[in-house]
Amino acid sequence: KERVFSGVQPTGNLHLGNYLGAISRFVPLQERYDCIYCVVDMHAITVPQDPKELRRQIREVTAAFLAAGIDAERHIVFNQSQVAEHAELAWIFNCIARIGWLNRMTQFKEKAGKDRENASVGLYAYPTLMAADILAYRATHVPVGEDQKQHLELTRDVAQKFNNDYAAAIAENGHGDAFFPLTEPLIQGPAMRIMSLRDGSKKMSKSDPSDYSRINLTDDADAIAQKIRKAKTDPEPLPSEEAGLQSRPEAANLVGIFAALKGVEKSQVLREFGGAQFSSFKGALVDLAVEKMGPIGAEMKRLVADPGHIDAVLGKGAERARVIARETLDAVYDIVGFIRSA
Ligand code: TYM
Repeated sequence: KERVFSGVQPTGNLHLGNYLGAISRFVPLQERYDCIYCVVDMHAITVPQDPKELRRQIREVTAAFLAAGIDAERHIVFNQSQVAEHAELAWIFNCIARIGWLNRMTQFKEKAGKDRENASVGLYAYPTLMAADILAYRATHVPVGEDQKQHLELTRDVAQKFNNDYAAAIAENGHGDAFFPLTEPLIQGPAMRIMSLRDGSKKMSKSDPSDYSRINLTDDADAIAQKIRKAKTDPEPLPSEEAGLQSRPEAANLVGIFAALKGVEKSQVLREFGGAQFSSFKGALVDLAVEKMGPIGAEMKRLVADPGHIDAVLGKGAERARVIARETLDAVYDIVGFIRSA
């Protein structure tokens, strides 16, 4: 059975990159797949978090899911820490994944910085918990932005090594020749890597100290307009073909944002705006961004005003997620040779 899983960390400001690269793409998948969307609070604490702020942000990410159009009745929306099976499976995977694999993870290197000795063990083991998130549901498809590609490759490696290492037990327990699927990443479209509005060589990120580097999902129309007008550009008019965007990272980024917001390809945007000056293109981009993002921000604010409702949605989602994850864990415990009381 085909199943989609994806997660978003409740850390810092949700921004246009999270929306275009991930959350907005979760929505249409609901038509074709059973979908499970998770607020990964256990991943968030791999770096220090203020407890009150973390709780607020868990609710805010949930609100963003709902505001974007995720149906928590037909699909599953929950927070990771309420389903203990993620942590249980992560431990098994810590014993499957190799230190050498984790040493190659570029996100760890970036986040740990120079003082690697002082990074948390959790930050290092982050990718095995992510593999557990996905494989607890034996998900077949994972929509993410480009920055998560390496983590998904590791998830496939973990699944494959588990399937190989325990091949005999998997067969004996009646699961055929593979227990975990080799999950496919869904990384496509014009917005897989949205860049900072201040610097086309840096990705738009929750942790950039400059608020002008990103459009937050909760920004109002004035803030959106100001940030787009101040966004870095170059002095040339827009090209009429995609090849003309090469070595123009800021222009490429704004055209990609426009295309993703409008739901078209970059080439189509350039057919319309080729030859235009940035002043007029930015005007059109402001209108489009305000039209598309304004209602989502407003709905998020409405939803977070009622934390009781959000917590109830998460609680119900966790209950349903747990049923699926428990079934996986019971099977995994049998496969690895643990004893379970009947
Ligand atoms: P996180 O919380 O950093 O980001 C959430 C999603 O947003 C995407 N994204 C972007 N896409 C395009 N341009 C950008 N500038 C940009 N910035 C972020 C991310 O690729 C991601 O899809 N490790 C994950 C969370 C996670 C997860 C999982 C994802 C935990 N377990 C299981 C999928 C499946 C993360 O830190 O995402």
